[in-house]
Amino acid sequence: MPIYPVARVDELADGQMKQVQAGETELLLVRLDGQFYALGARCTHYGAPLATGALHGERIICPWHHACFHVRTGEHLEPPGMDHLPRFPVRVEDDQVLVELPDTVEGRRAPTLARRDPQEARTCVVVGSGCAGAYAVEAARAQGFRGRVLWVAGGEFPPIDRPNLSKEYLAGEAPEEWMPLRDPSFYEAADIEVVQGRPAAALDAAAKTITLADGEVLRYDVAVVAPGARPRRLEVPGAELAGIFTLRTIEDSRAIRAAAREARRAVVVGASFIGMEVAQSLRHLGLEVTVVAPESVPFERTLGVEVGRVLQTLHEENGVAFRLGHTVQAFEGTDRVQQVVLNGGSRLAAELVVVGVGVQPATDFVQGVQKAPDGSIIVDAFLQAAEGLFVAGDAARFPDWRTGAPIRIEHWRLAAQHGRLAGANAAGARRAYRGVPFFWTRQFGVSLQYLGYVDAWDEVVLDGDPSARKFLAFYLRGEQVWAVAGMGRGYEMARLHGLLLEEGLPVLESVRSYLLSR
Ligand SMILES: Cc1cc2nc3c(=O)[nH]c(=O)nc-3n(C[C@H](O)[C@H](O)[C@H](O)COP(=O)(O)OP(=O)(O)OC[C@H]3O[C@@H](n4cnc5c(N)ncnc54)[C@H](O)[C@@H]3O)c2cc1C
Ligand code: FES
Repeated sequence: MPIYPVARVDELADGQMKQVQAGETELLLVRLDGQFYALGARCTHYGAPLATGALHGERIICPWHHACFHVRTGEHLEPPGMDHLPRFPVRVEDDQVLVELPDTVEGRRAPTLARRDPQEARTCVVVGSGCAGAYAVEAARAQGFRGRVLWVAGGEFPPIDRPNLSKEYLAGEAPEEWMPLRDPSFYEAADIEVVQGRPAAALDAAAKTITLADGEVLRYDVAVVAPGARPRRLEVPGAELAGIFTLRTIEDSRAIRAAAREARRAVVVGASFIGMEVAQSLRHLGLEVTVVAPESVPFERTLGVEVGRVLQTLHEENGVAFRLGHTVQAFEGTDRVQQVVLNGGSRLAAELVVVGVGVQPATDFVQGVQKAPDGSIIVDAFLQAAEGLFVAGDAARFPDWRTGAPIRIEHWRLAAQHGRLAGANAAGARRAYRGVPFFWTRQFGVSLQYLGYVDAWDEVVLDGDPSARKFLAFYLRGEQVWAVAGMGRGYEMARLHGLLLEEGLPVLESVRSYLLSR
């Protein structure tokens, strides 16, 4: 196996990471506690250069969407992404760091999963083949579950990269092969049986049974429910006209893109993540786009006025028009939508309308569990809702580990963390959820990241220059930092992830001194 000198020993201080070259191969070289480690240089999610992320203890935090890897083993610790980093033998001779590479270098290592043992009589059923379901089936096998794993996939299989549906995929820039999270053969190899086209019609938590749409009854010993949520529709006259869409599935995204080919003007209803991402993708496809929403600025409820205004300006510079402070009263048209009627009576002409006004947990089929008024299922810190029954992702209302308050969060990374935890707990682990919620959005080439969770804050303290799109925004309750939004400050956001994971609700002064500490 070829051996490459990749750096001098004194090129890296302890606790430092650096991207180095070994022949044609990019490597991440890390020095920690006097030892050197050589790993794959690129994140196994979307390929971010990990050297620009943060090293927090033994955890490498990706700068783009905060996947975490173990520095000594390359193990994938936290989503997004699913695979481990490759790891290569390192030795030091004189003052040179030498790395030994195999003849063929792969950029990722799939996890090792247990297979089915026919002697093992237990059955684990996972309902939902979206984000949380995909992580749950793998986690059950990775935890060593050797019984039968049945995956009730509803309408979607293989699971897809849902966040892309409003971004590159809708804009026509993501090829189809980017979308599946895994190839179906991966699940076959782990003896995961997929039930397609027959969604769960009823789950009886007391009887531990799941009835499928065709009447077949599945009995489970343990189950993970991950049905996600369905988009809310507007209940106004004309809402059933052709040309009006919501966006959740790959079919929705394809249908919007097809309709965009025939349209010149689009109205997007809702100025939160899905609405604003759809607005940018439709602009990219060449449509005139107007966003209608009741707030005074986009993202007002989640990000506040200051940060919302930065994103509004970005959209306006790229030709998106806004009718804020308005609601939709009706849609008009003969067969297809032609006009959107706003409160006050003004009308917007449109051949295409996309409605992004929130979602409702898709939990109607689950009986015998405690539900919140929005339909989400109440779980404990282990994501357990009843004996042998775990709930993950958008459908779960779980205790915020920082306060104990029950919360529900619609983020990809959190659904993935939940799925992994619920699958492992169903397989016999007993781990509580203790993570930092994180989401990202990307609009007109600008990324915004958000860490933590807060539904109402006392004050937003800005650090940096919002107009230059390079800032951190701290959301405070009293002195404590409950959440942080960041633009153009990826390295600091990755570092803050480590701090919030450790400290929960640090005070602003300690956050500031932490950021200055390196
Ligand atoms: C267009 C779009 C863009 C997004 N962008 C981002 C982003 O940039 N960043 C971010 O953090 N988050 C983003 N999100 C949110 C993120 O995708 C969700 O939080 C995440 O997918 C939730 O995962 P889940 O597994 O709970 O639900 P889902 O991924 O929705 O999966 C649920 C699955 O269960 C199936 N199902 C439902 N009922 C049944 C049943 N009875 N039987 C069988 N199967 C059933 C559904 O068909 C679906 O396949 C986005 C969401 C959308 C829709
Ligand atoms: S590229 Fe690393 S988490 Fe997305």
